[in-house]
Amino acid sequence: MARTPLVIGNWKMHTTLEEAAHLAGAVKRGIAEITGVEVAIAPPLPWLVPVGLSLGSQKKLKFAVQDASPGMVGPETGTVSFGMMVPYVAYAIVGHSERRLSNLDTHETINAKLRDAQKRGITPVLCVGEFVQLYSQKRKRGRPTKLEAASNIFMQLRKALRGVKESDLGKLVITYEPVWAISTSGTGQSADPAYANLMARKLRRSYARLAGQRRAGSIRILYGGSVSAANAAAYAAQPHIDGALVGAASLDANNFVQIIQQFAW
Ligand code: PGA
Repeated sequence: MARTPLVIGNWKMHTTLEEAAHLAGAVKRGIAEITGVEVAIAPPLPWLVPVGLSLGSQKKLKFAVQDASPGMVGPETGTVSFGMMVPYVAYAIVGHSERRLSNLDTHETINAKLRDAQKRGITPVLCVGEFVQLYSQKRKRGRPTKLEAASNIFMQLRKALRGVKESDLGKLVITYEPVWAISTSGTGQSADPAYANLMARKLRRSYARLAGQRRAGSIRILYGGSVSAANAAAYAAQPHIDGALVGAASLDANNFVQIIQQFAW
């Protein structure tokens, strides 16, 4: 089944407003002639709205929120809701390991966020991936054994999807992001593309058990973890990898556009 590739730039807590506007403009110009791939950026929250507005009425470069709280309004200090983000974003990153690891997100909050985003028409980009601990304790040929890594990510997937409405099961993007492969918090090694593909295939199979074959065939599974202009083609060539969640390399427009080009059909 044809799945349009998706490449998302996760800017995390980087850029000034000026840099953000400049970077987004350069990405917009860089992808103007590229087809066969969907592109989104996730700037820091205070820049997201002004940067989005500065790009004018265009639909090609989409926006993702790095995190938000379920609901519309409420007595919560220091956060914004998915309801508030509806006019500005198509996607929401949910369950990123940087939030899981600092205990800002539990399985329960991830589940609540995912369901609320879906309810409001924002597509959650659910991140699952085995932790560094598993990598270092159980490493075998430089990575966790397939079985251990798989049971870790399937548990994350199952718990994130608990209670999701039948009609919402297809409204989801999954990112396989082994924590040990993230450029800043991991080991500095990107996952072997064949290994990432195997894990994406296992995730698709596991998703099929939860949501049925048809949805599993159409859901996009991205890879994240030290994706760069140099290695993107190897991931793009994998049949079960439908795009990338890019951190550090998305902060440079040239690198990011080169990555996007590799994933475009
Ligand atoms: P990285 O980050 O590309 O810098 O490894 C990916 C991520 O954390 O989403």
